[in-house]
Amino acid sequence: MIQQKIESLRSKIEHLNKQYYVYHISEVSDSEFDSLLKELEKLEAENPQFFDSNSPTQRVGSDLIGGFESVEHRYPMQSLGNTYSIGEVSEWMERTTKESNLSNSYCCELKFDGAAISLTYEKGRFTRAVTRGDGVRGDDVSAAIRTIRSIPMTLCGDNIPAVMEVRGEVYMPFGVFEQLNERRYDIGEEPFANPRNATSGSLKLQSPTEIAARELECVLYSIQCDTLSTKTHHETLQLMHSWGFVTSTYTTLCHSIEEVERYVAKWDKARHKLPFATDGIVIKVDSLAVQRTLGSTAKAPRWAVAYKFKAEEAITTLLSVEFSVGRTGAVTPVANLEPVQLSGTTVKRASMHNAEQIALLDIRVGDKVAIEKGGEIIPKITRVVTEQRGLFSTPIEFPERCPACYSPLVKREGEAKHYCVNSSGCPPQIVGRIAHFVSRKAMYIDSIGEQTIELLFANKLVRSIADLYDLRAEQIEGLERMGELSASNIIAGIEKSKSVPYARVLFALGIRYVGETTAKKLAAAIPSFDELGGASFERLVAVEEVGEKIARSILEYFSDEANILTIERLRSVGLQFEGEAKEVLSDILSGKRVVISGTFERHSRDELKELIEAHGGLNQSSVGKNTDLLLAGAGLGPAKLEKAQKLGTIIISETDFELMINS
Ligand code: IVH
Repeated sequence: MIQQKIESLRSKIEHLNKQYYVYHISEVSDSEFDSLLKELEKLEAENPQFFDSNSPTQRVGSDLIGGFESVEHRYPMQSLGNTYSIGEVSEWMERTTKESNLSNSYCCELKFDGAAISLTYEKGRFTRAVTRGDGVRGDDVSAAIRTIRSIPMTLCGDNIPAVMEVRGEVYMPFGVFEQLNERRYDIGEEPFANPRNATSGSLKLQSPTEIAARELECVLYSIQCDTLSTKTHHETLQLMHSWGFVTSTYTTLCHSIEEVERYVAKWDKARHKLPFATDGIVIKVDSLAVQRTLGSTAKAPRWAVAYKFKAEEAITTLLSVEFSVGRTGAVTPVANLEPVQLSGTTVKRASMHNAEQIALLDIRVGDKVAIEKGGEIIPKITRVVTEQRGLFSTPIEFPERCPACYSPLVKREGEAKHYCVNSSGCPPQIVGRIAHFVSRKAMYIDSIGEQTIELLFANKLVRSIADLYDLRAEQIEGLERMGELSASNIIAGIEKSKSVPYARVLFALGIRYVGETTAKKLAAAIPSFDELGGASFERLVAVEEVGEKIARSILEYFSDEANILTIERLRSVGLQFEGEAKEVLSDILSGKRVVISGTFERHSRDELKELIEAHGGLNQSSVGKNTDLLLAGAGLGPAKLEKAQKLGTIIISETDFELMINS
């Protein structure tokens, strides 16, 4: 009886998951979904004899992942033959036609740029996920893969093979990648170079909760099994989709070289508008019988080829190198370049990351260098055109002292960056900390920008975040570019910040590694700053999302007398050092029911949900009669759109929403 109840709840939840993540249909509201999940959690906890690792409650298991077992693939994971020339693609098509004595159809697909994955299903149940590794053996990353909700744990439908490996690519959409890097920057961690690195890095994290927060996605493009009933590749894709797998919606069946060329030309341009990274097109012979005839070489199948997009590159001269000091004291070399056009923008500066990178590429001032904008936002130097090196190129010397305050730089074991440790006396660090303190996600004092902080600092009016609260309008009025109005705006903004809730104050303090989410989790678990200051290492690491590195950093923060004095001053002017994490920003959406659908450029869905609640609104998962607003992003399901239009629901974009909540 109980067992049946548990199983029926599991399959109901799994079904709702699939409808939502694979077919973009919400059958129930968020709260109904949550209550089903809670009910299942309760029954499972009371009846541990019915444990199942594929239960929807186990997607974010609580245990840390120990290590990654090395596993042999049942069928090796091959790579693909590559070409950058469309001429070679058409030669390959002619060859495959000749060798199979058939005029073939070809399935053209996007080449997703993430991490290849192989998922094993036995009797329609997920059993294991393994990375590509060396093609023969990979790492078992099942726990990480379970956190990706669009990957089904159980399949339903017709002709499901008894055992199969389903292959595809796990990737991180640009929007998620940019937010992740922003958060990493905020807490002084090195940003990921591109979404591909961020994806593989995420799969190797130890904590399932952290992996789930990375919002990875997965698209599947092939099946390895001995008993497949389909005759063509595109039919296989349709069958996979019917079982509950996400397959690419950008696949096209082509019948001639011209059609393939048109597909390639279209995506070579249109890929820049996609919300995820692609590095080419994969062209596959559609007939599975012909695929078998053509077979494989030792490395790659003969029935498929990858046309790779050329990375957009420009060659220019490295004029000089500056060393910039961030808020955490990290010193980053920045290249000043002879201005050059690159994918539609003029580039004058590029990041050079760190001393090791400079040495590795042997970059010298005066060199001709190649710059690229990969998945990254800031262009980077990828190589030196050494053939064009002049006699007078000069090696770059990494400074031994801080370029801003001249104190000696330190490079810690295991870190790539040099640091200036004079945090209380180094001007860019002081200005950077204040800029972080006033920023949008922290105290949100938008009347103070970086230039204002520099001005206040240069005039000796602020040296620490606490000094902001001693400022008087008449001190500001007389400064360059300031007037009565800007001075009173600044003072009003500072005054208003006194009601910012504790979790954001905690983030605003800029404790190293304590990002926005960690601050929220800390404030929820330990809702008083005094208690946080007295918390032991063990208590800190017991908080969700807090690892040893963060715990040590918090302890270090509280052991610094200067920080304690700053806090005392902030407390005495009335800042919040206690309280729940929930915040109220306005009542502009008071009582409004809002549905979020699609993906967005500047916010994750969770952030949007929080914003809706913070402005008094209610989140709903599906459009119904009582829905007031549909917040629509890219890839909004057509069914949802049609329903909203029929019901006359107001449809707004991310920009409309931002305007609304900021009005
Ligand atoms: S088919 C035998 N299709 O590209 C290999 N691969 O360079 C068959 N990839 O390891 C692979 N998108 O990680 C195929 N639509 C797609 C793909 C794709 C990305 C990756 C995959 C593979 C690598 C080969």
